[in-house]
Amino acid sequence: MNSKGNHNDEMKNSLSSDHESRVTIQGVEIALGFPDEFAFQWIGQKDVLDQLLAAWLVIDESDIPLNPRLIGKPGVGKTTLAYAAAKKLNKPVYIFQCTMDTRPEDLLITPVIDSSGGIRYVASALVTAMIRGAVCILDEANRMSEKSWASLAPLLDTRRYIESIVAGLKVRAHPDFRICVTMNDDASTYEIPEYIHSRLQPQIYLDFPEAEEERRILRENLPFVDEHIMNYVVNFLQRAHAKNENYTIRDGINIARYAAKRIKSLEGNMINPDNLLREAISMTLGEEALGHVI
Ligand SMILES: Nc1ncnc2c1ncn2[C@@H]1O[C@H](COP(=O)(O)OP(=O)(O)OP(=O)(O)O)[C@@H](O)[C@H]1O
Ligand SMILES: [Mg+2]
Repeated sequence: MNSKGNHNDEMKNSLSSDHESRVTIQGVEIALGFPDEFAFQWIGQKDVLDQLLAAWLVIDESDIPLNPRLIGKPGVGKTTLAYAAAKKLNKPVYIFQCTMDTRPEDLLITPVIDSSGGIRYVASALVTAMIRGAVCILDEANRMSEKSWASLAPLLDTRRYIESIVAGLKVRAHPDFRICVTMNDDASTYEIPEYIHSRLQPQIYLDFPEAEEERRILRENLPFVDEHIMNYVVNFLQRAHAKNENYTIRDGINIARYAAKRIKSLEGNMINPDNLLREAISMTLGEEALGHVI
């Protein structure tokens, strides 16, 4: 055992009683983060939700959860699915937004100077979720460098811990901790090494929804937008999907939202709403997108 007490028994994370948002691990006090609260709901495509929940299921004391990877085009619903699945389990959710500049210490524990000039350790969203037994979504994880991924290797296999070099300690994941990563299938910044790929299984692939589901998703996101705008945008998206364009639900939501604002702001001016919808499509996706309008 070393001076920081990296012994199995001492790796248990004890919640200190004085402050709920701090824990003491192996004698080091760490400040925890706060969960993300959204009203995200998952609509349609029940299969992918079931697959994600099954991957997280633990069926026996000797079993461990899997670390699924959600893949699909930008804006297809990956983050929403991960969040909604976590909420189904009634767990707090911590989203970590990965970027090409994410360093291992950002992912784990960061030292910050406190008001008295001393050092305070702050847990990332990931480590907070590990300690609290919550869900962490590593969002857009394909943007991270290999160095950052390497710091997660022991967490993503049967060991289920991370080692913070900065704070000089190991943190073991609570048994209720679950993780999933989202990745765009067309925007990798770095090659993800094979030993990491093999720890991020299964792969759950998200595709565009059917017309009826797409309409329900738009309706859920934009309850105040009228039926004509809704139908126009769903028809546009479905024709674009059929032609394998990369236009997604997020684009559809932006088009419908902007068109609704334009129509509202020009109320009483006798302007054809379809012209404003065409304008909204062109301003969101460029003029070439108008080829998918009837
Ligand atoms: N099945 C769905 N149910 C409810 N909302 C959905 C669904 N699919 C997509 N959306 C909506 O589409 C928008 C984009 O979804 P989201 O942000 O989850 O996509 P993403 O795949 O994570 O995108 P990116 O790759 O850019 O991070 C959100 O507004 C979300 O509410
Ligand atoms: Mg996302």
